[in-house]
Amino acid sequence: MVHKRQETRLVRFSLHELRRQGEYGHIVFPRTHFTSSHPHKKAGMAVMKTNRIKTVGILGTGTIGSSWAAFFASKGLVVQMYDADRSIHEGAVQKSKDNLEALAEYGLLDKSMLDQTVANITSVRDFGQMVEGADYIQESVYEDYGIKKKIFYELDSLAASHTILASSSSGLLMSEIQSVTKQPERCLVAHPFNPPHLVPLVELVPGRKTDVQVMQDAHSFFEDLGKIPVILNKEAPGHIANRLAVALWREAVEIVIRGIASVEDVDKAIYAGPGIRWALMGPHLTYHLGGGDGGYRYLMDHIGKTISVVWKDLATWTEIPEDSKDILVEGVKKSMGSRTFTDVANWRDKKIVELIKVIYDAPKK
Ligand SMILES: NC(=O)c1ccc[n+]([C@@H]2O[C@H](COP(=O)([O-])OP(=O)(O)OC[C@H]3O[C@@H](n4cnc5c(N)ncnc54)[C@H](O)[C@@H]3O)[C@@H](O)[C@H]2O)c1
Repeated sequence: MVHKRQETRLVRFSLHELRRQGEYGHIVFPRTHFTSSHPHKKAGMAVMKTNRIKTVGILGTGTIGSSWAAFFASKGLVVQMYDADRSIHEGAVQKSKDNLEALAEYGLLDKSMLDQTVANITSVRDFGQMVEGADYIQESVYEDYGIKKKIFYELDSLAASHTILASSSSGLLMSEIQSVTKQPERCLVAHPFNPPHLVPLVELVPGRKTDVQVMQDAHSFFEDLGKIPVILNKEAPGHIANRLAVALWREAVEIVIRGIASVEDVDKAIYAGPGIRWALMGPHLTYHLGGGDGGYRYLMDHIGKTISVVWKDLATWTEIPEDSKDILVEGVKKSMGSRTFTDVANWRDKKIVELIKVIYDAPKK
């Protein structure tokens, strides 16, 4: 697959200008996104290099924290993991190491570096040790304002003033979480997609008091590590990707409830069709191409009228109808057939890696 890189415009803007635009409560980033012909190829970024981050604290070592740990360690960073629940924690440290072995197995980590990389992960026994020396802390505890606010208060009190404090939150607002801190400007959401050691996207979301430069530093940090960061200009529940995902999910449920198609066929209709294109480009560019020579404008003016009929027919409920849950669960059981959860998860991870290698030219063994 050849992606011809277009000439990219390096857009420079001063810190003063960024700060000025940030004085709203919500930040407007005039041009931080990729401008190349292929959205995955990076253009010049008007950001500072952030190679000062050497040590990362991982707070909460469940599904996401343990995967983050593997990701950061695989990039040569020192990782200090801590979880309040020691019984979970020991398993999570092992899980992070297993993730690193899987990366080596997939050819995304040099096998000769495996032992050294595993040694980058330290399991610490208390909160203070996790914070000590950390230049960046990724919080991944339960999705709850009470818990996250308490944690951010403690992090802010203990961490060195240069330390960036990021939350993995899928839907909570940083403005609320940072309200308990003395240095709210260094706090942001860095929302990964599961599993973060494999999936490139990370959504960076400011709170009202987050400093624009911290957003740029986080962007630069993740980009240097090989992730694909996107910056939201202002916070919104579900950020970008989950807003889109749950909009689609609601309709996937609606189609089953109305008896239009089975769970299995709804899933097939996504993965065998639009899903293949979506791995390459988002809905805007997809529809632009759908407009032929007339492009996006033509599509909106003409086909858009037909799509209105569909929009008017879509679900608008905001709670999953209780009586649909059994139907959905049964449908998924049927799709799984004799495969176990682990079979499917491992197959998915292997295929994600193959896709990443094809699309993003990830390093091969
Ligand atoms: N699971 C996903 O697919 C996913 C994807 C992206 C983001 N997230 C976000 O990541 C965060 C973590 O989600 P998860 O799925 O890993 O949850 P999880 O339940 O697997 O893990 C949470 C961990 O936090 C620990 N914890 C809770 N309170 C703590 C405290 N006070 N101090 C230290 N550790 C504490 C728990 O012991 C547990 O190990 C959430 O904010 C979630 O929204 C989850």
